[in-house]
Amino acid sequence: MYKDTIDKKRLPLHVAVIMDGNGRWAKKQGNQRIFGHRNGINAVRETAEAAAELGIAFLTLYAFSTENWQRPGKEVDALMSLLMSSLHDELPTLMKNNIRLMTIGNIDALSDNVKRRLESVKNRTADNTRLKLILALNYGGRWEIVHAVQSIQKDMSSGRLQQLATEEIFSGYMATGGIPDPELLIRTGGEFRISNFLLWQLAYTELHFTATLWPDFRKEDFYKAIVDFQQRERRFGKTGEQTEEYEPSQNQ
Ligand code: IPE
Ligand code: IPE
Ligand code: MG
Repeated sequence: MYKDTIDKKRLPLHVAVIMDGNGRWAKKQGNQRIFGHRNGINAVRETAEAAAELGIAFLTLYAFSTENWQRPGKEVDALMSLLMSSLHDELPTLMKNNIRLMTIGNIDALSDNVKRRLESVKNRTADNTRLKLILALNYGGRWEIVHAVQSIQKDMSSGRLQQLATEEIFSGYMATGGIPDPELLIRTGGEFRISNFLLWQLAYTELHFTATLWPDFRKEDFYKAIVDFQQRERRFGKTGEQTEEYEPSQNQ
C-alpha cells in the first residue's frame, strides 16, 4: 500500500495531471473512443477524492486542450456534452467533499451552455475550502502566455501597469495567477511529453509518467505518484550538498 508510506508533512501543495489514454482504453476493448472518456470520469472522481483526503490544496486536471478542437467533430461534441453532464452530476460530490471548482483556459470561446454551467458550479462551490479543483479547459500553454502578454500590453497602454513586467508580475497575468506552481505533474497513458500544458508553471515541477491509461487510474496510482515525488531531490539549480543543508529547516 503506497498510501501508508506517504509522508503527510511533505505533500505537494499543487498536483497537475495530464489525463491521457481514454481513446486507447476504449479501443482495446473494441469500443468507441467516447466510451473511454465516459469511463475517465471515475478516475477524475477517485483522483479528486484522494487529493482532498490527503490534504492537497490544488489539483489541476487537463481536460481539453486548444489542439483538441482538431479531433473529429463528433468526438468534440461528445466531450462537451460529457462535461455538461458531469458538471451537473458531480456537484453533490463536490459539495460533500468541500471541493471548490475553478477553471483555466480560454473559457470565453466555449459554447454558451457550457459557460453557463461552469459559472453556476464555480459560484455554488466558491466557499468550499478543502481542495481547489482546477479544470484546464480549452487550455494551451502558448495561448496562456500570449494572452498574458496581450493583457500586459493593454494595461501598459491604458496606464494601469506603469513598470516593466517582472517574473512575478507576469505570473499574475497568467490564468493561474494566485495559484502556486505545481510541484508534481502526473501524465497517464504512456507518452513522455507536455502537450502544451502549463509551459511557464512547470519550470521546476517533478514529472511522473505512468503507462496506466486514464480510465484505469485509481487512488493507489495517485499515492504511488506522491511517493515517487517524495523520493526526488529537488535542487532548483543548487548543488546536492546545498539542498541537503537546506531541507531540514524547510520542513520545520
Ligand atoms: C485524453 O485521452 C482525453 C482528452 C485528450 C480529451 P485521449 O482521448 O487523448 O486518449 P488517447 O490518447 O487517444 O488514448
Ligand atoms: C493532452 O492529451 C490533452 C489532454 C489530456 C486534455 P492529447 O492526447 O491531446 O495529447 P497528444 O496529442 O497525444 O500530445
Ligand atoms: Mg491522448
